[in-house]
Amino acid sequence: MKKLRVFLAICLIMALFPGCSPEREAAREEKLIRVGFSQVGSESDWRAANTQSMISALSEKNGFELIYDNARQRQENQFLAIRNFIQQDVDYIVLAPIAESGWDDVLSEARSAGIPVIIVDRQIAVSDEDLYTSWVGSDFLAEGQRAIRWLEGTIQQQGRLGKPLNILHIQGTDGATAQIGRTKALNDAVRTHPGWKVAAVLPGEYTEAKSYELVRDFLAEDQQIDVIYSENDNMTFGAIRALEEAGISYGADGDVIIISFDAVHDALEMCLNGKINICVECNPLHGPRVAALIRQLENGETPAKQTYVDETFFSPGLLNEDLIGSREY
Ligand code: AHR
Repeated sequence: MKKLRVFLAICLIMALFPGCSPEREAAREEKLIRVGFSQVGSESDWRAANTQSMISALSEKNGFELIYDNARQRQENQFLAIRNFIQQDVDYIVLAPIAESGWDDVLSEARSAGIPVIIVDRQIAVSDEDLYTSWVGSDFLAEGQRAIRWLEGTIQQQGRLGKPLNILHIQGTDGATAQIGRTKALNDAVRTHPGWKVAAVLPGEYTEAKSYELVRDFLAEDQQIDVIYSENDNMTFGAIRALEEAGISYGADGDVIIISFDAVHDALEMCLNGKINICVECNPLHGPRVAALIRQLENGETPAKQTYVDETFFSPGLLNEDLIGSREY
């Protein structure tokens, strides 16, 4: 009888305080992995999708405590954020670097503090590769080469191979891997095609507003162009607005071929409608990849030093609404 009374008392306590069940207690006591994430900024739709992916993957539900910092496209802000993460003694630092250079000092400080650093999206150029543990992101040079192969094929189909081609190059943030790779692909192609010429290089900094202003001013000088090579979708949106205002036709049935990078939803819709000739994919969904790298480290495994994600490209004939709707960004 006494045993029954004790059993009933335990049942009553568990019913009144469900949070006291052993499983719940264990879960509560399970230590969250503290991650400081220094993000580039919020310059583009791509970046918004990337931030969302990181925040949802590094959530409490998944066992992480995320300290997020938006550097607003300034490397000094990233230095501050990293030093702040070191002060807070986080378990891991995740860095989406604005530019490749300038990281030696601050990452040496992270190393001295014993905090592993994971690089995501763009890469870093450091004197000692041991200053970071692992990198995951895109092959930006391959993206550019994908665009160039498409352009060569299109120009050939149009019977314009070997003829003059005036290219307006709208460039991303100077020194960012995405800029370096995509720019190299274009410059390499210009060197091998005698008729191809870069009419101007405009520093659009990956934003729609900057690109719009620069292209508008460029077109006001009555410049003739055949191609716009725009290093991201948001700069493409700005360029298209400037073309519209200048009354210049573009896209699949127009005078100016539009090449764009990222392949976010709005750009894919414009590609399907023939306003953009090609969207070269740049995949922003790195959150689960970074979470998996941290899990590997937690398990004592050594992750790959570099991981390139698979990507493709889209032109109007390769797209339909179902495909666009099925994509996450
Ligand atoms: O580093 C990736 C690039 O950064 C994307 O192409 C661009 O949209 C973003 O701002």
